[in-house]
Amino acid sequence: MPFDSNFLKENNAKFQWHPMAHPAEMQANPPKIICEAEGVTLTDVDGHKTLDSVGGLWNVNLGYSCEPVKKAIADQLATLPYYSAFRGTATAPAIELSHALKEWFAPDGLGRAFFTSGGSDSVESALRLARQYHKIRGDRDRTKFISLKKGYHGTHFGGASINGNANFRRNYEPLLPGCFQIASPYPYRNPFNETDPAKLAELVAASLEDEIGFQGADTIAAFIMEPVLGAGGVIPPHETLMPKVREICDRHGILLIADEVITAFGRTGAWSGSRLWGVQPDMMCTAKAITNGYYPFGAVMIHDKVAEVFESDRSSFGAIGHGYTYSAHPVGAAAALACLPEMVRLKVNENAAARGQELLDGLKALYQKHEVVGDVRGKGLMCALELVDDRASKKPIDKSRIGRVFETMYEAGVMVRISGPNMIFSPPLVITAEDVQTILQATDAGLAAA
Ligand SMILES: Cc1ncc(COP(=O)(O)O)c(C=O)c1O
Repeated sequence: MPFDSNFLKENNAKFQWHPMAHPAEMQANPPKIICEAEGVTLTDVDGHKTLDSVGGLWNVNLGYSCEPVKKAIADQLATLPYYSAFRGTATAPAIELSHALKEWFAPDGLGRAFFTSGGSDSVESALRLARQYHKIRGDRDRTKFISLKKGYHGTHFGGASINGNANFRRNYEPLLPGCFQIASPYPYRNPFNETDPAKLAELVAASLEDEIGFQGADTIAAFIMEPVLGAGGVIPPHETLMPKVREICDRHGILLIADEVITAFGRTGAWSGSRLWGVQPDMMCTAKAITNGYYPFGAVMIHDKVAEVFESDRSSFGAIGHGYTYSAHPVGAAAALACLPEMVRLKVNENAAARGQELLDGLKALYQKHEVVGDVRGKGLMCALELVDDRASKKPIDKSRIGRVFETMYEAGVMVRISGPNMIFSPPLVITAEDVQTILQATDAGLAAA
C-alpha cells in the first residue's frame, strides 16, 4: 500500500476536523482509516475488510469498481479538466448531460437542470430559485419555506434553516428567518401519538394546511420534503402523504421541492422518490449518486412549468444571480454521463427494491430477537433500526452501547452508519442477496453485543 500506516495512525484526526463529529472525541477515538475499496468491500489501514452497508454516504450506488465512470473522469481530465459555465461559456459534457437528464426525468416533468457541486448546494439553489420564481410572477411576499421535522437538507444556512433536527441548527443560530417545520410522518414518535401511518399522513397534511393558514399562503414560497426521509432516521411516509402535499401546494400556489439528494437514481426502488409516490415536484434536488460519489456534483431539476416562467420573463427578475465556480464542472458532468447508462444496465432500481425487501424482512426478524431494537423502518435500500434502552419507555439507547454495536459489526465484517440512536443501512444498489445475509448476520452479532 502506497502509504505509511504508522504516519496515518499517528496523525489521524489531529489536524483535520471531521464533519458531524466533535474534534475532541475524534482525537480520543480516531476514525477508521479506509485505504482501498473494491466492489462493495472496503479495506482499512490494517488490511481489515468490511462490506460497506453505508454505500460511502448514500452515494456509491454502483460500488467502488465502476470502470466506465472512472474512465470517463480520467478521459475528461485529459481533454478538458475545467471550464466555467458562467454566462458566455459551456462545455460538451454539461450540454450532453443536460440533454440526458431531461430524458431521464421526463416522467417527473423536469426538463431543465441547474448544476451544483453537491447536495447542500442543490438545496440552496432550489430555495433561491423558488423565491425568484415568485418574484418574477409579481408575488413578492412569497419568501417563506415550510419543511418537515426530522428532514435533512444539508448544512448551508438555507438548508440548516429548513432542517428538522436540532443537532444541525442549535450551534449555528440564528438561522434564516421565515422557515417553519411541521410534524414528521414518523409513526414511532410523533406529537399526535398516532401509530397508523395512513392516519398520521392525514394529520401531517392537516398540519401543513394549518401552518399555511397561519402564515398566509401568499407569504410562502415553497414546501420542501424528502420523499423518504433519510438522514433523520429513514422515515418512509405513507404513500398518501406526498400526493396530498402536492394537492395542498397546488391549491395555495406554493412550490413543492423534492429533496432527492438520496432518493434520486434508484435507491427507493423507483428511479426517483417522487415517481415512487406518483408526484411531479416543481423542483428536485439531486447529487450524490449522480456521479456514484466519485466526483462532487449535483443538479437541481426544474419542472417545465417553472422553467417556462423564467424563460418567458423579459424583465431583470428572470436573470439567475446564483451559481458556483464548479457548477456544471465538466469532469463531474462526464462522470454523471457515464453513470446513467450503468444504472440502467445494472437495473439498480429493481435490485434496490428486491434486496431492500430482503434486508427489511431480515431486520424485522432481528426485532423479534433483540429487545434493544425499538423500531424497524425501510424502503428500498434505505433501512434503519432505532435502538432503545427500554422498549416500553422508548428511551434512546445509551451512546456506549451503540458504540459496541458498531465495533462488533465492524469486526464481523460490515461497516454500518450510526446516527444518534439509529443504525442506518444504505448499501450500494448493486449488492447481492448473499451480501444482504452478510449484513444481517453482522447486525445480529452487533445487537447481541449491545
Ligand atoms: C436529503 C439530503 N439533502 C441534502 C443533503 C446534503 O448533501 P451534501 O452533503 O452533498 O451537501 C443530504 C446529504 O446527505 C441529504 O441526504
